[in-house]
Amino acid sequence: MKKRIEEVLNQQINEELYSAYLYQAIRAYFESIGLSGFSNWMKVQAEEELFHAEKFFSHIVQRGGRIRLTAIKEPAFEWKNPLDAFKASLEHEKHITSCIHNLVSVAEEEKDYPSKTFLNWFVDEQVEEEDNVSKIVQELEMIENDGKGLLMIDRELSSRTFTPPTNEE
Ligand SMILES: [Fe+2]
Ligand SMILES: [Fe+2]
Repeated sequence: MKKRIEEVLNQQINEELYSAYLYQAIRAYFESIGLSGFSNWMKVQAEEELFHAEKFFSHIVQRGGRIRLTAIKEPAFEWKNPLDAFKASLEHEKHITSCIHNLVSVAEEEKDYPSKTFLNWFVDEQVEEEDNVSKIVQELEMIENDGKGLLMIDRELSSRTFTPPTNEE
């Protein structure tokens, strides 16, 4: 595997691990305001991010690359309200989408077709990720921090569980 590809894929491991770290921080914020369903949703979100990091790890190893882990930056600690926290999540997912698109461009430039095919899964995944988070942002905007509405969404989000995709290589 070419050095440039190895380097950018390693950077993405850091991005995915930071994503997990950020969602754990938001989870902790939700715990601090007594919203256990929101907290559960963020816990599952963090688990998915670890799964993403693992996919990049395996791909690099499988292609004969070397893993280099770097420092993960500190996530924010406080958010104004649940809407603010979900808006931050949406912004972050958009950032990740642009990272993935950039990786696809590098894979194309370097003619690394196996990496390009590997990245297709993430291109689709990001469409889903942004859509899921946007829907919750919309719901939160609708209720305008109304307590009853928050509890309804909290109950809804409490049922989310982590299921790793099965049709994976
Ligand atoms: Fe991710
Ligand atoms: Fe994500």
